[in-house]
Amino acid sequence: MSKNNTHFSSKLGLIAATVGSAVGLGNVWRFPAEAQSGGGAAFLLIYILCVILLGIPCMLAEFALGRAGSTDAIGAFGRVVPTRKRWATVGALSVLTSFLIAIFYLVVTGWTLSYSVASVTGNLYRPESGIEAGNALFRLKMEQYIADGYGAMFFTMAVVVLNWLILRGGVKKGIERLSNILMPLLFLLLLAFCCVSLSLPGASEGISYFFKPDFTKITPTVVLSALGQAFFSLSLGMGILVTYAAYYPPQTHLVSTATTVSSLATLVAIMMGVIIFPAVTTFGLTEHGVAGTTLVFLTLPEVFMRLPLTGLWSSLFFLLLTIAALTSTVSILEVTVRCLQDRFGFSRRGACMAVNAPLLVLSGICSLSFGELANFTIFGMNMFNFLDFLTAELLLPLCGIGVCVFVGWIAPKSLLSNQLTNCGSIRSRVTGACLFIIRYIAPALILLVLISPLL
Ligand code: PFF
Repeated sequence: MSKNNTHFSSKLGLIAATVGSAVGLGNVWRFPAEAQSGGGAAFLLIYILCVILLGIPCMLAEFALGRAGSTDAIGAFGRVVPTRKRWATVGALSVLTSFLIAIFYLVVTGWTLSYSVASVTGNLYRPESGIEAGNALFRLKMEQYIADGYGAMFFTMAVVVLNWLILRGGVKKGIERLSNILMPLLFLLLLAFCCVSLSLPGASEGISYFFKPDFTKITPTVVLSALGQAFFSLSLGMGILVTYAAYYPPQTHLVSTATTVSSLATLVAIMMGVIIFPAVTTFGLTEHGVAGTTLVFLTLPEVFMRLPLTGLWSSLFFLLLTIAALTSTVSILEVTVRCLQDRFGFSRRGACMAVNAPLLVLSGICSLSFGELANFTIFGMNMFNFLDFLTAELLLPLCGIGVCVFVGWIAPKSLLSNQLTNCGSIRSRVTGACLFIIRYIAPALILLVLISPLL
């Protein structure tokens, strides 16, 4: 057993931390944008199917590997099958992937923090010379907060320091305690925003767009993007779930944990749709598109501007985003922290320093991608977009396939059945179906996502 083998102290804490990891900018920011380009309800339907049929089995594969290995994301492979040491490469790839994702994800987390502060101080809504509040104003503000590198750099670094402090507290006193406080708060905020949005005059139009599927909109592209979104939003392939499951006590019921985590993550994504679409249709903002960065940083301030108590709603919303992002960033950094502790014998403090100090520099540089370093490109992309592309299109699918093949084919069949039944002490009716999906369906579909840009 690893000397770092602390466990989450309660079932609730374990769920809160894992949901905290899964619920991130992927659910609250990327999902509504993807849903809009995928035709609203049609996308939602496919997304839910992907979560149930593919996401939950893959999550169980990572949980099983993590808890059986009971060490970091690299060492777990060797612990489970000591004779096939080379498979640790998949673990190493997922640690690398998680670190690369962290570099740019921390930058976006910095944006959410700067928007929270600007909402509280009122700066976000303060007219600039000659520009009245509206689309033009918020475009300018976006330039100031996102593209004006040194401001963005400050907030990115602040977020890195925040993560550093939380991680230093360890799994129980840092991550679990933080999640226990922030996750209920996040759900409360989401609920409040759903109520506000549903009370808007044009709510029904937005709601029917989001919930009434138009089956003609379902194309192979929509299916692949729903699959990619489901994977990202459940934090698969990043080594996070393998690492967190090492902190699960032996009596944790993995199937019910995976079901709860996936359901809550999906619920958050749906709530975000319920918040965004009525607001966008009510205020006729569809022409701006609900896409990528512009959704939360441009369109939503326009919505808040039209509501009474603008500053309050805006501050609460960006706080919500910051919380969602923060509980995800600590989970992704824990992957490398645990790896340094277990692989290289670092102390907790030392590991936190070794992870966060380079991130201060790397994420700091990355935050200049839309400003001072916009002209510094790799394969025609700025640093931020390159890291996003490299991890989402290449490394995450590779790690996903690697884990499925390992758990499905290389590890003994008893790995999954023992882990899903807690060594026979509880019943599980899904082991056979899960193994089938992990062996055949998941690797084939993820491979399709991987090669789809080439088709
Ligand atoms: N499920 C997370 C999300 O949707 O944002 C995935 C994630 C990404 C977790 C980046 C952590 C992270 F740093």
